[in-house]
Amino acid sequence: MIYIANWKMHGNSRDIESLNPIIKLSKQKKYRNIKLVYCPPYTLLDLMKRKFINSKIHVGAQNCHFNSEYGAFTGSINSKMLKSIGTKYVIIGHSENRTDGDNDLIINKKIKSALQENLKVILCIGETLFEKRNKLTKKILKKQIKNSLYKVKKVENIIFAYEPRWAIGTGIIPKTKTLTKNIIDIKKILISVNKKLNSAKILYGGSVNSQNVKEIVKIKGIDGFLVGGASLNSKKFIDIIKKSIN
Ligand code: PGA
Repeated sequence: MIYIANWKMHGNSRDIESLNPIIKLSKQKKYRNIKLVYCPPYTLLDLMKRKFINSKIHVGAQNCHFNSEYGAFTGSINSKMLKSIGTKYVIIGHSENRTDGDNDLIINKKIKSALQENLKVILCIGETLFEKRNKLTKKILKKQIKNSLYKVKKVENIIFAYEPRWAIGTGIIPKTKTLTKNIIDIKKILISVNKKLNSAKILYGGSVNSQNVKEIVKIKGIDGFLVGGASLNSKKFIDIIKKSIN
């Protein structure tokens, strides 16, 4: 199982101490085989990496610029910079960045630049409420996956996070039946795009908490969770891990 904490625009240097319990958990025998990745804001990447130095917890960025070279892009950070401070993962295509203008073409470029730097990509896909209501989910997922992976070579370094955009931060999650179907569809689409994606990891994200995770984890084909709000609090994040492993 893979657990990714997405801190979004939260946290400062004082919050680093709150990570002690998760470091402790990561060292327990029972949890030795889970993969833990923290994606804090850029400003905390280095600090967090140092904090995790004697543990197996990795750090990831929440985004990167599409240009792999240095350049005149005020306020941006690229994959080369992320790599240089020991970042292992990068989230690409998050709903909030899609809302800010990231389209499949930009996402495709970002993936290529991240993979070029040997970062592991966490690619977010998912439909809006409008698309869901109009029964366009499968079509949208297909379009997002196909376009984002256009001419991408090292697809085995991509983890997929299915995050229905209407489920993020709303407290609402998909019905089990719908989620089961969507995961099956994603799996089929991935294989049709590239056979190497046969064993790709698929995570679920969107309003995951310690209550609903017990149901979601039963769904076949879900290999972990991308957690936003509930990951800000170590206790809540640990609860999610414990409830989904037991
Ligand atoms: P949420 O966010 O858990 O707060 O819904 C998930 C995400 O945006 O990745």
